[in-house]
Amino acid sequence: MNTKELTNTVNLMLAGSKGLLAMDESTPTCNKRFEEVGIPQTIEYRRAYRELIVTTPGLGDCISGAILFDETIHQATKSGVLFIDVLKQADIIPGIKVDEGTTDFPGSPGEKITEGLDGLPRRLIKYYDMGARFAKWRAVIAIGPHIPTTECIEANMRKLAIYAAMCQEAGLVPIVEPEVLMDGPHDLKKCYDVTEKVLDILFENLAKQNVDLKAVILKPNMVLPGLNCPRQAGIDTVAEATVTCLLHSVPAEVPGIVFLSGGQSPEMATAHLNAMHVMYKDKLPWALTFSFARAIQAPALEKWKGKDENVPAAQQMLRHRACLNNAARRGEYTPNMENNMV
Ligand code: 13P
Repeated sequence: MNTKELTNTVNLMLAGSKGLLAMDESTPTCNKRFEEVGIPQTIEYRRAYRELIVTTPGLGDCISGAILFDETIHQATKSGVLFIDVLKQADIIPGIKVDEGTTDFPGSPGEKITEGLDGLPRRLIKYYDMGARFAKWRAVIAIGPHIPTTECIEANMRKLAIYAAMCQEAGLVPIVEPEVLMDGPHDLKKCYDVTEKVLDILFENLAKQNVDLKAVILKPNMVLPGLNCPRQAGIDTVAEATVTCLLHSVPAEVPGIVFLSGGQSPEMATAHLNAMHVMYKDKLPWALTFSFARAIQAPALEKWKGKDENVPAAQQMLRHRACLNNAARRGEYTPNMENNMV
């Protein structure tokens, strides 16, 4: 394992007030997002959309790394420059989603297990040679009347740990993403308890697999009530529950935590991150930032609508959202900044 190279990548990923941009939607997920705003679901529209993102002027000032999907890492701009090279020229580190999605967890309806370990070391070498320096694997944990089961959490966290060890061997920093889903009527306390259990089991497994925690980045959900919970929580309550849970379960050696947005609106995701920094300034042992997909991309995608003439305005919105999240990482975001496009 090349610890020096991994540490260098980690430091660049977590630099300043930057964060990560998740643009690693699988083809079905990307098509679903396109369908929602009336964009044709073809490989060329997906390419054009990813070109819009990576060529956004000034994106590298706000974003330290971008997570790509396999289809995207092989694609290029209309003029023939590989996206991976466009990112590198903008000082954005290319990363790659390497899990192969989820399948039903046998014997427990409603639960999922992530696939993709078979042949992974070979794929990691290929991605490293292409220029990727970090990877992502997402496990999903659903909350329901009888779920999650300990068996499903254990099985998913075990695979995350094996993936993380393989990444470090290959010179890629692993982002470990155990996502507790927001779907359902459960309350904030339930999300807190499940998130805490998931993180505890994750770190047990990372230790068993001899993963170097100093070269791992955690990508968790925030602690939130379910989307259908009748009692939604205030911004400070979410910030407090999330940081308390993370302080309890995430070792101080972990250099950074980057949140997924999980279905929160862009404004709420930013406000929550900001509140964590306002309330816990200087009390956090790890860097705390963002790795949003929907909460950065959604306004830009809606603006673009698949039309060339909307590209500059969509890029401006993407950059604006990224800048607002930089402000949140500094604890300097206010809602009135939403309307002041830079
Ligand atoms: P969202 O921010 O849209 O939840 O996506 C983050 C991500 O990478 C999901 O795996």
